[in-house]
Amino acid sequence: MTSPLLAVQDLEVWFDLPHGDTLHAVRRVSFSVERGERFGLVGESGCGKTTTILALMGLLPPTATVSGRVLLEGEDILEDGETSVRPHRWTDISMIFQGAMNALNPVQTVGAQIVEAMELHGIAEGADAKSQAGQLLEMVGIAPDRLDRYPHEFSGGMRQRAAIAMALACEPKVLLADEPTTALDVMVQAQILLLLERLSQELGLTVILVTHDLPVVAEVCGRAAVMYGGEIAEVGPVDTLYHDSRHPYTRLLFAAVPDPTGEEEVVSIPGAPPRLDRPIVGCPFQPRCDRAFEPCPTEQPRLIALGADHQAACHLNDPAFRAVS
Ligand SMILES: Nc1ncnc2c1ncn2[C@@H]1O[C@H](COP(=O)(O)OP(=O)(O)O)[C@@H](O)[C@H]1O
Ligand SMILES: [Mg+2]
Repeated sequence: MTSPLLAVQDLEVWFDLPHGDTLHAVRRVSFSVERGERFGLVGESGCGKTTTILALMGLLPPTATVSGRVLLEGEDILEDGETSVRPHRWTDISMIFQGAMNALNPVQTVGAQIVEAMELHGIAEGADAKSQAGQLLEMVGIAPDRLDRYPHEFSGGMRQRAAIAMALACEPKVLLADEPTTALDVMVQAQILLLLERLSQELGLTVILVTHDLPVVAEVCGRAAVMYGGEIAEVGPVDTLYHDSRHPYTRLLFAAVPDPTGEEEVVSIPGAPPRLDRPIVGCPFQPRCDRAFEPCPTEQPRLIALGADHQAACHLNDPAFRAVS
Protein backbone atom coordinates (compact mmCIF):
# COMPACT_ATOMS: atom_id res chain seq x y z
CA MET A 1 0.00 0.00 0.00
CA THR A 2 1.41 3.40 -0.88
CA SER A 3 1.30 6.12 1.73
CA PRO A 4 -0.98 9.13 1.18
CA LEU A 5 0.69 12.24 -0.17
CA LEU A 6 0.11 14.09 3.08
CA ALA A 7 -0.87 12.65 6.44
CA VAL A 8 -1.43 14.81 9.51
CA GLN A 9 -1.36 12.82 12.73
CA ASP A 10 -2.41 14.10 16.16
CA LEU A 11 -1.46 17.68 15.43
CA GLU A 12 -1.65 19.98 18.45
CA VAL A 13 -0.85 23.69 18.62
CA TRP A 14 -0.69 25.86 21.73
CA PHE A 15 -0.02 29.59 21.70
CA ASP A 16 1.66 31.32 24.64
CA LEU A 17 -0.37 34.35 25.60
CA PRO A 18 0.78 37.30 27.70
CA HIS A 19 0.54 36.79 31.48
CA GLY A 20 1.47 33.10 31.22
CA ASP A 21 -1.83 31.92 29.73
CA THR A 22 -2.01 29.45 26.87
CA LEU A 23 -4.48 29.00 24.05
CA HIS A 24 -4.97 25.48 22.73
CA ALA A 25 -5.77 26.32 19.10
CA VAL A 26 -5.50 22.88 17.46
CA ARG A 27 -6.33 19.61 19.21
CA ARG A 28 -5.58 16.07 18.01
CA VAL A 29 -6.13 16.94 14.37
CA SER A 30 -5.59 14.00 12.00
CA PHE A 31 -6.44 13.67 8.35
CA SER A 32 -4.80 12.51 5.17
CA VAL A 33 -4.92 13.65 1.59
CA GLU A 34 -4.16 11.70 -1.56
CA ARG A 35 -2.27 12.83 -4.63
CA GLY A 36 -4.31 15.14 -6.84
CA GLU A 37 -7.14 15.33 -4.32
CA ARG A 38 -9.05 18.50 -3.45
CA PHE A 39 -9.69 18.44 0.29
CA GLY A 40 -11.70 21.02 2.22
CA LEU A 41 -11.02 22.29 5.75
CA VAL A 42 -14.16 24.06 6.84
CA GLY A 43 -15.54 25.65 10.00
CA GLU A 44 -16.53 28.92 11.62
CA SER A 45 -13.99 31.67 12.10
CA GLY A 46 -11.56 30.97 14.96
CA CYS A 47 -11.89 27.15 14.83
CA GLY A 48 -8.19 26.63 14.02
CA LYS A 49 -8.09 26.28 10.22
CA THR A 50 -5.32 28.81 9.53
CA THR A 51 -3.28 27.61 12.52
CA THR A 52 -3.50 24.03 11.22
CA ILE A 53 -2.19 24.84 7.76
CA LEU A 54 0.48 27.25 9.02
CA ALA A 55 1.71 24.34 11.15
CA LEU A 56 2.02 22.19 7.99
CA MET A 57 4.24 24.91 6.50
CA GLY A 58 6.27 25.36 9.70
CA LEU A 59 5.25 29.01 9.65
CA LEU A 60 3.75 29.51 13.09
CA PRO A 61 5.22 32.29 15.25
CA PRO A 62 7.77 31.47 18.00
CA THR A 63 4.98 31.72 20.62
CA ALA A 64 3.50 28.51 19.20
CA THR A 65 4.25 25.02 20.47
CA VAL A 66 3.49 22.24 18.01
CA SER A 67 3.30 18.50 18.48
CA GLY A 68 2.23 15.64 16.23
CA ARG A 69 3.41 14.45 12.85
CA VAL A 70 3.04 15.78 9.33
CA LEU A 71 4.04 13.07 6.88
CA LEU A 72 4.78 14.14 3.34
CA GLU A 73 5.17 11.02 1.22
CA GLY A 74 5.91 9.19 4.44
CA GLU A 75 8.58 11.62 5.70
CA ASP A 76 7.87 13.54 8.92
CA ILE A 77 8.60 17.11 7.90
CA LEU A 78 8.08 18.52 11.39
CA GLU A 79 10.44 16.07 13.08
CA ASP A 80 13.38 18.46 13.35
CA GLY A 81 11.49 21.73 13.22
CA GLU A 82 12.76 24.30 10.75
CA THR A 83 15.59 22.03 9.57
CA SER A 84 13.23 19.35 8.31
CA VAL A 85 10.46 21.59 6.99
CA ARG A 86 12.57 24.19 5.14
CA PRO A 87 13.53 21.96 2.16
CA HIS A 88 9.83 21.28 1.51
CA ARG A 89 8.36 24.74 2.06
CA TRP A 90 7.20 26.35 -1.23
CA THR A 91 8.83 23.59 -3.31
CA ASP A 92 6.63 20.68 -2.09
CA ILE A 93 4.01 22.40 0.05
CA SER A 94 2.99 25.89 -0.92
CA MET A 95 0.38 28.29 0.35
CA ILE A 96 -1.86 31.14 -0.65
CA PHE A 97 -2.21 33.15 2.54
CA GLN A 98 -5.49 34.49 3.82
CA GLY A 99 -5.74 37.95 2.19
CA ALA A 100 -2.80 37.15 -0.13
CA MET A 101 -4.17 39.26 -2.95
CA ASN A 102 -3.71 42.31 -0.75
CA ALA A 103 -0.24 41.24 0.35
CA LEU A 104 1.57 41.51 -2.99
CA ASN A 105 4.43 43.98 -2.77
CA PRO A 106 2.97 47.28 -4.08
CA VAL A 107 6.31 48.71 -5.27
CA GLN A 108 7.41 45.70 -7.30
CA THR A 109 5.89 44.47 -10.56
CA VAL A 110 3.96 41.22 -10.41
CA GLY A 111 6.50 39.60 -12.74
CA ALA A 112 9.46 40.65 -10.58
CA GLN A 113 7.80 39.10 -7.54
CA ILE A 114 7.30 35.76 -9.29
CA VAL A 115 10.85 35.83 -10.69
CA GLU A 116 12.20 36.58 -7.21
CA ALA A 117 10.39 33.54 -5.77
CA MET A 118 11.86 31.34 -8.53
CA GLU A 119 15.39 32.67 -8.10
CA LEU A 120 15.24 32.34 -4.33
CA HIS A 121 14.49 28.63 -4.64
CA GLY A 122 16.87 27.96 -7.52
CA ILE A 123 14.05 27.12 -9.96
CA ALA A 124 15.23 29.45 -12.75
CA GLU A 125 17.11 32.73 -13.22
CA GLY A 126 17.10 35.89 -15.32
CA ALA A 127 15.39 35.74 -18.72
CA ASP A 128 14.55 32.08 -18.22
CA ALA A 129 12.76 32.87 -14.96
CA LYS A 130 10.92 35.74 -16.61
CA SER A 131 9.72 33.55 -19.42
CA GLN A 132 8.57 30.89 -16.93
CA ALA A 133 6.80 33.61 -14.92
CA GLY A 134 4.95 34.60 -18.09
CA GLN A 135 3.88 30.98 -18.59
CA LEU A 136 2.68 30.84 -14.98
CA LEU A 137 0.59 33.97 -15.48
CA GLU A 138 -0.90 32.48 -18.61
CA MET A 139 -1.70 29.32 -16.71
CA VAL A 140 -3.76 31.30 -14.16
CA GLY A 141 -5.54 33.25 -16.90
CA ILE A 142 -3.51 36.48 -17.06
CA ALA A 143 -1.93 37.65 -20.32
CA PRO A 144 1.88 37.25 -19.98
CA ASP A 145 2.44 40.84 -21.13
CA ARG A 146 1.05 41.90 -17.76
CA LEU A 147 4.28 40.75 -16.07
CA ASP A 148 5.52 44.33 -15.93
CA ARG A 149 2.41 45.69 -14.25
CA TYR A 150 2.12 46.64 -10.59
CA PRO A 151 -0.42 44.99 -8.26
CA HIS A 152 -2.56 48.18 -8.08
CA GLU A 153 -3.11 47.91 -11.84
CA PHE A 154 -4.82 44.55 -11.29
CA SER A 155 -8.41 43.91 -10.18
CA GLY A 156 -9.00 41.90 -6.98
CA GLY A 157 -9.60 38.73 -8.99
CA MET A 158 -6.41 39.23 -11.01
CA ARG A 159 -4.38 39.88 -7.86
CA GLN A 160 -5.70 36.61 -6.45
CA ARG A 161 -4.72 34.86 -9.71
CA ALA A 162 -1.25 36.40 -9.41
CA ALA A 163 -1.01 35.19 -5.80
CA ILE A 164 -1.90 31.69 -7.02
CA ALA A 165 0.76 31.93 -9.76
CA MET A 166 3.32 32.92 -7.15
CA ALA A 167 2.36 29.98 -4.93
CA LEU A 168 2.91 27.68 -7.93
CA ALA A 169 6.29 29.17 -8.88
CA CYS A 170 8.24 26.23 -7.43
CA GLU A 171 5.92 23.53 -8.82
CA PRO A 172 4.63 22.30 -5.44
CA LYS A 173 2.78 19.03 -4.93
CA VAL A 174 0.38 20.49 -2.38
CA LEU A 175 -1.26 23.91 -2.44
CA LEU A 176 -2.83 25.19 0.77
CA ALA A 177 -5.37 27.87 -0.12
CA ASP A 178 -6.55 29.90 2.88
CA GLU A 179 -9.93 31.54 2.23
CA PRO A 180 -8.96 32.22 -1.40
CA THR A 181 -12.36 33.58 -2.39
CA THR A 182 -13.30 35.58 0.70
CA ALA A 183 -13.67 39.30 -0.12
CA LEU A 184 -14.20 38.66 -3.83
CA ASP A 185 -17.56 39.20 -5.49
CA VAL A 186 -19.61 36.16 -6.37
CA MET A 187 -18.72 36.02 -10.09
CA VAL A 188 -14.99 36.34 -9.39
CA GLN A 189 -15.25 33.78 -6.57
CA ALA A 190 -16.65 31.26 -9.03
CA GLN A 191 -13.83 31.97 -11.50
CA ILE A 192 -11.14 31.50 -8.85
CA LEU A 193 -12.71 28.21 -7.72
CA LEU A 194 -12.84 26.99 -11.32
CA LEU A 195 -9.20 27.96 -11.72
CA LEU A 196 -8.16 25.97 -8.62
CA GLU A 197 -10.14 23.00 -9.88
CA ARG A 198 -8.58 23.21 -13.33
CA LEU A 199 -5.04 23.56 -11.94
CA SER A 200 -5.57 20.58 -9.71
CA GLN A 201 -6.78 18.51 -12.67
CA GLU A 202 -4.17 19.68 -15.18
CA LEU A 203 -1.14 19.64 -12.89
CA GLY A 204 -2.21 16.76 -10.64
CA LEU A 205 -1.93 19.31 -7.86
CA THR A 206 -3.27 18.45 -4.41
CA VAL A 207 -5.32 21.33 -3.02
CA ILE A 208 -6.32 21.86 0.59
CA LEU A 209 -9.02 24.48 0.48
CA VAL A 210 -9.58 26.30 3.76
CA THR A 211 -12.80 28.22 4.12
CA HIS A 212 -15.63 29.15 6.48
CA ASP A 213 -17.89 28.90 3.44
CA LEU A 214 -19.39 25.44 3.08
CA PRO A 215 -20.75 25.88 -0.47
CA VAL A 216 -17.21 26.68 -1.63
CA VAL A 217 -16.03 23.31 -0.35
CA ALA A 218 -19.05 21.52 -1.80
CA GLU A 219 -18.28 23.05 -5.18
CA VAL A 220 -14.62 22.14 -5.42
CA CYS A 221 -13.72 19.34 -3.00
CA GLY A 222 -14.35 15.63 -2.99
CA ARG A 223 -13.62 15.21 0.72
CA ALA A 224 -13.57 17.57 3.66
CA ALA A 225 -12.93 17.90 7.37
CA VAL A 226 -15.28 19.98 9.47
CA MET A 227 -13.43 21.69 12.32
CA TYR A 228 -14.97 22.92 15.56
CA GLY A 229 -13.17 24.40 18.55
CA GLY A 230 -9.74 23.38 17.28
CA GLU A 231 -10.79 19.77 16.62
CA ILE A 232 -12.08 17.77 13.71
CA ALA A 233 -15.78 17.15 14.28
CA GLU A 234 -16.34 15.08 11.16
CA VAL A 235 -14.39 14.06 8.08
CA GLY A 236 -15.47 12.26 4.92
CA PRO A 237 -16.61 12.65 1.33
CA VAL A 238 -18.52 15.91 0.87
CA ASP A 239 -21.56 13.96 -0.36
CA THR A 240 -21.57 11.86 2.80
CA LEU A 241 -21.22 14.95 5.00
CA TYR A 242 -24.19 16.43 3.21
CA HIS A 243 -26.50 13.43 2.99
CA ASP A 244 -25.38 11.25 5.90
CA SER A 245 -23.79 13.59 8.42
CA ARG A 246 -23.23 11.99 11.83
CA HIS A 247 -22.30 15.12 13.78
CA PRO A 248 -24.97 17.67 14.75
CA TYR A 249 -22.57 20.53 14.01
CA THR A 250 -22.08 19.43 10.39
CA ARG A 251 -25.85 19.18 9.96
CA LEU A 252 -26.38 22.64 11.39
CA LEU A 253 -23.57 24.02 9.26
CA PHE A 254 -25.27 22.72 6.12
CA ALA A 255 -28.63 23.97 7.34
CA ALA A 256 -27.12 27.43 7.96
CA VAL A 257 -26.10 27.79 4.31
CA PRO A 258 -28.29 30.47 2.72
CA ASP A 259 -30.72 29.02 0.23
CA PRO A 260 -29.92 30.58 -3.17
CA THR A 261 -33.61 30.64 -4.13
CA GLY A 262 -34.39 32.53 -0.93
CA GLU A 263 -37.45 30.30 -0.47
CA GLU A 264 -36.36 28.32 2.54
CA GLU A 265 -35.79 29.84 5.93
CA VAL A 266 -32.11 30.12 6.87
CA VAL A 267 -31.22 28.46 10.16
CA SER A 268 -28.37 30.02 12.08
CA ILE A 269 -26.58 28.14 14.84
CA PRO A 270 -27.45 29.67 18.21
CA GLY A 271 -24.62 30.41 20.65
CA ALA A 272 -20.90 30.99 20.10
CA PRO A 273 -17.88 28.70 19.61
CA PRO A 274 -15.90 27.80 22.76
CA ARG A 275 -13.04 29.92 24.06
CA LEU A 276 -9.81 28.14 23.31
CA ASP A 277 -7.86 29.82 26.12
CA ARG A 278 -9.86 27.83 28.70
CA PRO A 279 -9.84 24.07 29.18
CA ILE A 280 -12.66 22.38 27.28
CA VAL A 281 -14.38 19.65 29.25
CA GLY A 282 -16.52 17.15 27.38
CA CYS A 283 -17.61 17.85 23.83
CA PRO A 284 -16.73 21.36 22.61
CA PHE A 285 -20.04 21.60 20.73
CA GLN A 286 -22.20 20.40 23.64
CA PRO A 287 -23.35 23.88 24.84
CA ARG A 288 -24.83 24.59 21.39
CA CYS A 289 -26.01 21.09 20.57
CA ASP A 290 -29.70 20.23 20.47
CA ARG A 291 -28.91 16.50 20.68
CA ALA A 292 -26.62 16.59 23.73
CA PHE A 293 -27.17 13.77 26.27
CA GLU A 294 -25.55 12.44 29.46
CA PRO A 295 -21.89 11.92 28.43
CA CYS A 296 -21.55 15.14 26.42
CA PRO A 297 -20.76 17.67 29.21
CA THR A 298 -18.04 15.47 30.73
CA GLU A 299 -16.66 12.97 28.20
CA GLN A 300 -14.54 14.15 25.32
CA PRO A 301 -15.70 12.46 22.09
CA ARG A 302 -13.04 10.87 19.87
CA LEU A 303 -13.29 10.40 16.14
CA ILE A 304 -15.16 7.15 15.50
CA ALA A 305 -14.97 5.37 12.13
CA LEU A 306 -18.42 5.15 10.57
CA GLY A 307 -17.35 3.78 7.21
CA ALA A 308 -14.17 3.24 5.25
CA ASP A 309 -13.76 6.96 4.71
CA HIS A 310 -16.06 8.63 7.24
CA GLN A 311 -15.36 9.58 10.86
CA ALA A 312 -17.21 11.73 13.37
CA ALA A 313 -16.45 12.82 16.93
CA CYS A 314 -19.88 12.59 18.51
CA HIS A 315 -21.14 10.39 21.36
CA LEU A 316 -24.34 9.72 19.44
CA ASN A 317 -22.30 7.32 17.31
CA ASP A 318 -20.66 5.58 20.25
CA PRO A 319 -22.27 2.25 21.11
CA ALA A 320 -20.63 2.51 24.55
CA PHE A 321 -23.22 5.14 25.46
CA ARG A 322 -26.06 3.19 23.88
CA ALA A 323 -27.38 6.41 22.49
CA VAL A 324 -30.88 6.58 21.12
CA SER A 325 -30.28 8.83 18.16
N1 LIG B 1 -0.44 34.03 16.89
C1 LIG B 1 -1.46 33.74 17.70
N2 LIG B 1 -1.37 33.93 19.04
C2 LIG B 1 -2.38 33.61 19.87
N3 LIG B 1 -3.55 33.09 19.45
C3 LIG B 1 -3.71 32.87 18.14
C4 LIG B 1 -2.68 33.18 17.19
N4 LIG B 1 -3.13 32.85 15.94
C5 LIG B 1 -4.38 32.36 16.12
N5 LIG B 1 -4.73 32.37 17.43
C6 LIG B 1 -5.99 31.88 18.01
O1 LIG B 1 -6.13 30.52 17.64
C7 LIG B 1 -7.49 30.21 17.37
C8 LIG B 1 -7.61 29.69 15.95
O2 LIG B 1 -7.34 30.74 15.04
P1 LIG B 1 -7.24 30.50 13.47
O3 LIG B 1 -6.41 29.32 13.22
O4 LIG B 1 -6.82 31.79 12.86
O5 LIG B 1 -8.76 30.19 13.09
P2 LIG B 1 -9.50 30.20 11.68
O6 LIG B 1 -8.47 30.25 10.60
O7 LIG B 1 -10.30 28.94 11.68
O8 LIG B 1 -10.39 31.40 11.69
C9 LIG B 1 -8.28 31.50 17.62
O9 LIG B 1 -8.77 31.46 18.93
C10 LIG B 1 -7.22 32.58 17.46
O10 LIG B 1 -7.55 33.71 18.23
MG1 LIG C 1 -8.25 31.72 9.09
